[in-house]
This record gives sequence, C-alpha cells and structure tokens, in this order.
Amino acid sequence: MGAPCATCHADKAHIQSISRHANALKPYDGTGFNGKTLRERAGTLYTYSANKVAITRGGIRREAVIQWLFGAGHFARTLLLRQEGRWVEHRVSQYPLAGRLSLTPGHSPQPADTFDTAFGIVQSDVNAQRCFACHSTSPTQPGIHCQRCHGEGEKHPAEPTIKRTKDVALCAECHRSPLREYASPEPEIEDPASIRFAPIGLTASKCYQASKGALTCVTCHDPHTDARPAMTYDRKCLGCHTAAKKQDCPRTANCADCHMPRSSPIPLLTFTDHRIR
Ligand code: HEC
Ligand code: HEC
Ligand code: HEC
Ligand code: HEC
Ligand code: HEC
Ligand code: HEC
Ligand code: HEC
Repeated sequence: MGAPCATCHADKAHIQSISRHANALKPYDGTGFNGKTLRERAGTLYTYSANKVAITRGGIRREAVIQWLFGAGHFARTLLLRQEGRWVEHRVSQYPLAGRLSLTPGHSPQPADTFDTAFGIVQSDVNAQRCFACHSTSPTQPGIHCQRCHGEGEKHPAEPTIKRTKDVALCAECHRSPLREYASPEPEIEDPASIRFAPIGLTASKCYQASKGALTCVTCHDPHTDARPAMTYDRKCLGCHTAAKKQDCPRTANCADCHMPRSSPIPLLTFTDHRIR
C-alpha cells in the first residue's frame, strides 16, 4: 500500500508495509476470531466466523455483520460492527499476547444483561469517524501509510511538495498530547492510564524540557517501523548522557528498564512510561 511512493522508495515501502501503523485497520476477514467462541459467566455465548458474530442468550441467537478490525494484532484487536445503520464497538476483543478473547477496554465488566450490551457500545458517527481518522490514511485507505504523514506529494520530487518534520506534534495528532490545562508535571500519578499516550509523558520529562526541541519521538523511533526491544535505545540515551554527565547513575545499560518503567494501567495492555526519570 506504499503506492504511489513505492516505485521510487521501494525499501521504505517494504518495511513500512509490515509495520503496525500500516496494519492498524483492515476490513474484517476473521483474523484473530474466526472459529473461536467465548462464554460469559451469565451464559451469553459468542461465536465468530469470517464475517459475523453470533450471540446466543437463553436459547435465542442473533447475528451481526463485522465490518472492521482495529489494531494490528500486537496488543489487541477490536471489532466494529454495523447494526441497523449504527456503528457498534464490540464488547469482546482479542489479545494476541495473552492468547485469548476478553473484554474490550471501557466496557462493563458485569456479564452482559441484554443483547445490546453483548453486541457492544454504540458509537456516534462522529466518534466512529474519529476512530477511522487515527487508524487510516484517507477514507479509501485504511491503515497508516506514507501520505498520512508526508502529505499528497503529487509533484514530488520535481517540486518540494513533500512534508517532512521531526516535530512531536505530528505523532501527537494520534498518540495524544497533554491538554494545556492538564500539562501535569507527573501525569502518570494524576492519571495512570495516561502512560498509554507517549507524548504526554515525554513532554513532561526533564530530558525533553531541558533539551529544548532536540528530543522528539524520532530521536528514538524510526517512524517507518515498530518499536524495538527497550535495550536497543541505550545508545540514544548515551548520545546525550555521556558517561561523565551521568556519574550519579549506577548502571551502564538497559536504561529504559529503570528510567522508563513499563506498567499495565488497562487490563491485558502494557505500556512504556515515556516520562523519563
Ligand atoms: C519519481 C520518484 C519518486 C516518487 C514517486 C516519490 N519520491 Fe520521494 N524522493 C525521491 C527522490 C529522488 C528524493 C530525494 C533523494 C533522497 O533524499 O532520497 C526523495 C525524497 C523524499 C523524502 C525526503 C524529503 C526531504 O525533505 O528530505 C521524503 C519524505 C519522500 N521522498 C517521500 C515520498 C512520498 C511520501 C512519496 C509518495 C507520495 C514519494 N516520496 C514519492 C523520489 C520519489
Ligand atoms: C494517523 C495516526 C497516527 C500518527 C500520525 C502516528 N501514529 Fe503511531 N500509531 C498509531 C496507531 C493507530 C498505532 C497502533 C497500531 C496497532 O498496534 O494497531 C500506532 C502505533 C505506534 C507505535 C507502536 C508500534 C509497536 O511497536 O507496537 C509506535 C512506536 C508509533 N506508533 C510511533 C509513532 C511516531 C514516532 C509517530 C510520529 C512520527 C507516529 N507514531 C504517528 C497512529 C498514529
Ligand atoms: C486520537 C486518535 C485515536 C482514536 C480516536 C482512536 N485510536 Fe485506536 N489507537 C490510537 C493509537 C495512537 C494507538 C496505539 C497506542 C495505544 O495503544 O494507545 C491505538 C491503538 C488501538 C488498538 C490496538 C491496541 C492497543 O492498545 O495498542 C485498537 C484495537 C484500537 N486502537 C481501536 C480503536 C477504536 C475501536 C477506536 C474508536 C472507538 C479508536 N481506536 C480510536 C489512536 C486512536
Ligand atoms: C507515521 C508517520 C510516517 C509514515 C506513515 C511515513 N513516514 Fe516517512 N518520515 C516520517 C518522519 C517523521 C520522517 C522524518 C524523520 C527524521 O527526519 O528523522 C520521515 C522521513 C522519511 C524520509 C527521509 C528520511 C529517510 O529515512 O530516508 C523518506 C524518504 C520517507 N520518510 C519516506 C516515506 C515513505 C515512502 C513512506 C511510506 C512507505 C513513509 N515515509 C511513511 C514519518 C512517516
Ligand atoms: C536529546 C538529549 C537527551 C536524550 C536522548 C535523553 N536525555 Fe535524559 N536528559 C537530557 C537533559 C538535557 C536532561 C536534564 C539534565 C539536567 O537537568 O542536568 C535529562 C535528564 C535526565 C534524567 C534526570 C531526570 C530528572 O527528573 O531529574 C534522567 C534519569 C535521564 N535524563 C535519563 C535518560 C534516559 C534513560 C534516556 C534514554 C531512554 C535519556 N535520558 C535520553 C537529555 C536527553
Ligand atoms: C528516549 C527514547 C524514546 C523516545 C524519545 C520516545 N520513545 Fe517511544 N518507546 C521507547 C522505548 C524504550 C519503548 C519500549 C520498547 C519496548 O520495550 O518494546 C517505547 C515504546 C513506544 C510505543 C509502544 C507502546 C509502549 O508504550 O510500549 C509507542 C506507541 C511509542 N513508544 C510511541 C512514542 C511516541 C509517540 C513518542 C514521542 C512522543 C516516543 N515514543 C518517544 C523509547 C522512546
Ligand atoms: C538498575 C536501574 C538503572 C539502570 C539500568 C540505569 N539507571 Fe540511571 N539511575 C538509576 C538510579 C537509581 C539513579 C539515581 C541515582 C542517585 O540519585 O543517586 C539514576 C540516575 C540517572 C541519571 C540522573 C543523574 C542525575 O543527575 O540525577 C541519569 C542521567 C541516568 N541515570 C541515566 C541512565 C542511562 C543513560 C542509563 C543506561 C546507560 C541508565 N541510567 C541505566 C537507576 C538506573
């Protein structure tokens, strides 16, 4: 899906096409769900096929068409259903690392007491469009591809029409940034779930504030590939914290293990706290 950029940027198009960005949204084809079932404590039974979910309660069975699969499948996959002209975020998600189906974050942990709660939460059109906006390149191109970050660039490279920036603001369009009134010095204490949003933590760190624009997301991450194992970032830290400047630190490796702790503020999802401290 790197076209029309792939003709000239073949290597980049290849690595980007297998990234979680590129696979953040797809039409549902059964991936992660087909053939699986889940039974809730109160007896509600969910059965998945390659295009539908069937829900059975008290001997009655109802079905809904599954249209979209959100999530590249590293942390979680969440389904968006279409029912009577409305978007419904399905109650059950798949968690590849845990290897099971379980509750979608934000849905009530009490067993579903109606078919409506079993199918999920109705999302207004405005909210559903927000989901698509952060998980797509354009209305016709699901997943995050070149033009979402670089612009159309039709006349590139003949004319300088391509956008290129290192600014945190690009990533924060989707990964979220602190609201002005909420720019807490310790966001992870005020709201533990905020560690999901890397820009909030990063912009609260001394590393970011004291380096005056020199530290951005792309200092550490290649925006065309996924995050790498934490210790591969050591040399980024050491690029600024030379041995002499970190004489108070007892260690020489695995910096992020101690200074960017991981935690799980939402069941089954683990994030890295980007407030470096
Ligand atoms: C006809 C060939 C061609 C096509 C098609 C093409 N590029 Fe390029 N692109 C180039 C060349 C040549 C350069 C300059 C050499 C370099 O920096 O690698 C370049 C440079 C770039 C740069 C770096 C710009 C900078 O300011 O440093 C970006 C970003 C980029 N291209 C993105 C894209 C995207 C996104 C697309 C698709 C919308 C695209 N290109 C399509 C040939 C092409
Ligand atoms: C259009 C919205 C959007 C923009 C812009 C965006 N991201 Fe993402 N990013 C996402 C979504 C959605 C995911 C989750 C993909 C998934 O796992 O399903 C993600 C996942 C990631 C991941 C995690 C991949 C993994 O290893 O699990 C990293 C790292 C990342 N983005 C970094 C960046 C950086 C750096 C920028 C800015 C250069 C950026 N993103 C810009 C939406 C965006
Ligand atoms: C403001 C942008 C934004 C909106 C709106 C948004 N997402 Fe995401 N989504 C992201 C980013 C960024 C990530 C990766 C980091 C993370 O997990 O928060 C992500 C990750 C995910 C994942 C992968 C699991 C995970 O936590 O990494 C799923 C599934 C998902 N989103 C579903 C949805 C659904 C369904 C909606 C609408 C109800 C939605 N998203 C709305 C930006 C957004
Ligand atoms: C999530 C946002 C995002 C996506 C998607 C993305 N890029 Fe980039 N790209 C960036 C950012 C940010 C930079 C600047 C990195 C820097 O300057 O350190 C960049 C830099 C580049 C460069 C110049 C530097 C280099 O590494 O050669 C090229 C060429 C490029 N991108 C091409 C592409 C192509 C082709 C695609 C699609 C296959 C693509 N990008 C998809 C964010 C993105
Ligand atoms: C772009 C340069 C840069 C990078 C990259 C960077 N830092 Fe920093 N960091 C700084 C600056 C500047 C300060 C403030 C130093 C001071 O006040 O003396 C700082 C402060 C710190 C502090 C003290 C924080 C506090 O609240 O007192 C720690 C710990 C730290 N960095 C660890 C790291 C680790 C670990 C990494 C890699 C994951 C890293 N830094 C990456 C520039 C950077
Ligand atoms: C100082 C280095 C550094 C900077 C700067 C940085 N990250 Fe990370 N990021 C990491 C490390 C380390 C991990 C954990 C990798 C692992 O263990 O899988 C990570 C993981 C992630 C993940 C995967 C989910 C998670 O929480 O583990 C996302 C998404 C992400 N970063 C987004 C961003 C965004 C967006 C920015 C800019 C606001 C950013 N990062 C800036 C080092 C950095
Ligand atoms: C085992 C946990 C651990 C690891 C791994 C670790 N640190 Fe530290 N670091 C600490 C502790 C604890 C302190 C506080 C020491 C003190 O204040 O006496 C510290 C302090 C620091 C400081 C701040 C010193 C100051 O001015 O306050 C910096 C910068 C730093 N570490 C960078 C790094 C870098 C870079 C790496 C990787 C090469 C790293 N650390 C690996 C635990 C760790």
